[in-house]
Amino acid sequence: MTVSQTVYDAVGGKPFFVELVDDFYDRVQADDVLMAVYPDDLSEPRRTTAGFLAQYWGGPPDYSEERGHPRLRMRHAPFVIRQRERDHWLNHMLAAVSATVKTHQVPHEVEAAMNGYFEHASTAMINTAELSNG
Ligand code: HEM
Repeated sequence: MTVSQTVYDAVGGKPFFVELVDDFYDRVQADDVLMAVYPDDLSEPRRTTAGFLAQYWGGPPDYSEERGHPRLRMRHAPFVIRQRERDHWLNHMLAAVSATVKTHQVPHEVEAAMNGYFEHASTAMINTAELSNG
């Protein structure tokens, strides 16, 4: 018999995602490159992103009940996301993961899976080519 556990369970449920996302958006708030893209009031993104991630990693489908199918690329289409914005975004998220796992019992492979997901998914959100320097 195989006993499988979701990442959501492995990190102890919703509070992990709320803390992760709060830490992340605190970093976003202090980043001029990202605040040129985000609204001044980050309270909605804090709430919806925590709900989305909890759902994505196996928690209850609260995000979709409220917002429908995630379609993240489509939802990000109104914002100019280049390699630069993606890199700032990813650096803050990886720093937030690293800070948040310290106060939770998170298995190393779970942390690695999360980082891999953020790296991949943030790249997929790029929707605008960088101007060349040449
Ligand atoms: C792993 C990659 C990413 C995930 C999982 C993610 C997730 C989300 C979610 C769940 C929302 C809320 C959508 C909703 O309203 O229902 C959101 C909004 C947003 N995201 Fe992302 N995102 C990612 C990458 C990025 C990147 C690279 C940027 C670059 C700047 C970005 C910028 C934004 C902006 C500007 C909003 C809208 C905030 C607002 O107007 O309320 N996201 N994101």
